Amino acid sequence: MLRVALLGATGRMGRAVLEALPDWPDLRLAGALASPASPSLGRDAGEAAGLVATGVAITHDCAAALAGAEVAIDFSLGVATRAHVEACAAQGCALVLGTTGYDAAAAAAVRAAAARIAIVQAPNMSLGVNLCFALVARAAQVLRGYDVEIVDVHHRAKRDAPSGTALRFGEVLAAARGTPLVTAPAAGARPPGAVGFSSLRMGEGGGEHTVFFASPHERVEITHRSAGRAAYAAGALAAARWLARCPPGLHGMEDVLGLDLPAATS
Ligand SMILES: NC(=O)c1ccc[n+]([C@@H]2O[C@H](COP(=O)([O-])OP(=O)(O)OC[C@H]3O[C@@H](n4cnc5c(N)ncnc54)[C@H](OP(=O)(O)O)[C@@H]3O)[C@@H](O)[C@H]2O)c1
Repeated sequence: MLRVALLGATGRMGRAVLEALPDWPDLRLAGALASPASPSLGRDAGEAAGLVATGVAITHDCAAALAGAEVAIDFSLGVATRAHVEACAAQGCALVLGTTGYDAAAAAAVRAAAARIAIVQAPNMSLGVNLCFALVARAAQVLRGYDVEIVDVHHRAKRDAPSGTALRFGEVLAAARGTPLVTAPAAGARPPGAVGFSSLRMGEGGGEHTVFFASPHERVEITHRSAGRAAYAAGALAAARWLARCPPGLHGMEDVLGLDLPAATS
């Protein structure tokens, strides 16, 4: 039985992980963390999320949340990443880092901690999206000289555009081509090799990404559609299970899935 601490247990992703956990009988919740200001401190993590009781109370003490855990899953906020990573390293607890938006100091702390503990870090934990990264890399190697457009569709409240995942598709494509990523201007003739990005924002629900490869004669489209947060939760739990037998180091979801992605050139 793999004991898991959930950092950010009261958030939207925390709830998605708690909801998914019963489908993973070899994983058990062993700790739950929220911020010192959380109204849920002291409550059972499952009950606070409107789910069945887990027997684990929510704390703001990171060391206490990690005490009985072998792997931590972090879906909290970037301001807390450095402290969480350093606490995991101090306690020898492996880490699935799903939190985004942390600063350069936290990123350096992640790299330093990877000398002591095993870490999977990915801004998008979805198994399907990570498979699509590998498909896009392969397509870029085969369909050389094709025009590429990357389109992301998200709910009306999303703040960033293009999405972080759309940008990652661009990076993967550039790495596979062995060139830096050149973004096409919004108007005017397309410079050779430049990649166009567009974002649609409307309605609600899960996100969608399509990478188009076009020549004068044909078009290939690689599309991923997400139904919501459950896809990220499933990926994080798969990563936690994979980390349990992993030596120290910094890994991505491509390692969890056994996919070969080309390294970035710049
Ligand atoms: N990698 C992926 O696939 C993926 C997918 C979706 C989201 N994300 C990222 O995951 C993170 C969480 O997203 P979300 O939508 O679940 O956010 P959210 O609903 O705002 O939840 C944030 C959680 O972090 C906790 N928290 C805030 N400050 C903290 C602190 N200083 N120490 C400990 N816990 C703290 C909050 O607890 P209280 O408010 O109760 O104190 C809450 O449980 C974001 O960075 C998001 O971008 C990643």
